Parts: sequence; structure tokens; C-alpha cells
Amino acid sequence: MEKLTGLNKFKTAVFISGTGSNFKNLIRFSKIKKSPISINLVISNLDKAKGLIHANKFKIKKKIFNFHNIIHTENKILTLLKKEKIKFICLAGFMKILSKNFIKRFNGKIINIHPSLLPKYKGLNTHHRALINGDKFTGCTVHYVTEKLDSGKIIMQKKIKIDDKDTLISLTKKVLKQEHKLYPAAIMKIFN
Ligand code: GAR
Repeated sequence: MEKLTGLNKFKTAVFISGTGSNFKNLIRFSKIKKSPISINLVISNLDKAKGLIHANKFKIKKKIFNFHNIIHTENKILTLLKKEKIKFICLAGFMKILSKNFIKRFNGKIINIHPSLLPKYKGLNTHHRALINGDKFTGCTVHYVTEKLDSGKIIMQKKIKIDDKDTLISLTKKVLKQEHKLYPAAIMKIFN
């Protein structure tokens, strides 16, 4: 990927579906001088996604797409991304699966954060699965998005200890805290 000087940050869109704590964290990160990205757009499949509140607060353009017709929706999103000159996409708790065609159009420019030590626990309910399996460790992973779910090349991972007293709530909180460190670190790694 080409080098940055700080003035030419990569215009980035964040895709969310929920609370948006990673979105908020990426906004904060993007405002640091050394950050290679600026957050210019947030896209959600849900108008009730709590995380959209951060778009209002930080005056970031937001768009909601219902994804009823995937092809039609993705075409509309691609048009919007082009119009906004978006060069990079961060998925942050985005719960829709993007098509092969969409991913190809942004080949190598879409990354995702996943709450497990991939390739372990692809898909949903990762913390629940780790807890019922009695795992001693879990983690989080930032990876490139490819057409195969949660299977693209790993950029960075963080291993996290599961304590005996951990619950779904405590583990979710613990992992999210590390996600907020890992996502910016992985972005720095990509652009350096
Ligand atoms: C995060 O834990 C993220 O890793 C996970 O959703 C949560 C979103 O939290 N993503 C996935 O499970 C993707 N398959 P946030 O809305 O507070 O950033």
C-alpha cells in the first residue's frame, strides 16, 4: 500500500450493526496525527444501531441500507463509496455478509475485527462457544475480508486469558478492551 504523509489520509468507511464501540475507537484513532486513515463515512444495515450516535457526535456522514436485496444494496453502496472517494473499509461489528463481487471491487482494502483467535470460532457467539468449551484462552483478530467468512489473511491477533470466574459479560468486556487496542495497531501495520 502507498505511503502516507499525514496530509493524505486514506478516506475510510466503517460498517457497523450495533453498539459501535470499535467505530468510536477508530474515530478517535483517526484523529491522531500519525493515523493513516480518516473516517469519512459510516454505513449500517440497521437504523437503530446504537453506534450511529457517534456519527452525529463527530459529524461523520452516515447512511443506512436495509440489505433486503443484496445486489441492489451493494451497488448503491459502491456508488456512494465512489462518490465519497472511499479507499478503505473497516468492518466493526457489521453483521451482514458482503458478496464476492463487492469484496473484489475493494480487493485487499476491506478488513474486519473478529472476537476470537481465528481460525478458531468463525461466525457468531464466539465467547459463548469458548466458555462452554472450557477454553483457557480466547482473543481477537484483525484480518482481511475475503469471500470466505472470517478466513482472510490475519493481520494481527491478541491472545486473552479466560479466568474461571469469567462470564459472557465479563469476557465480552475484556475482549472489547483489547479490540480497541488491536484495531488501530493492525491499521498502522498495514500502512507502514
Ligand atoms: C465486536 O466484539 C466485534 O469483534 C464483533 O462484534 C462486536 C462489535 O462491538 N464482530 C463480529 O462478531 C463480526 N463477526 P462494537 O459494536 O461495540 O464495536
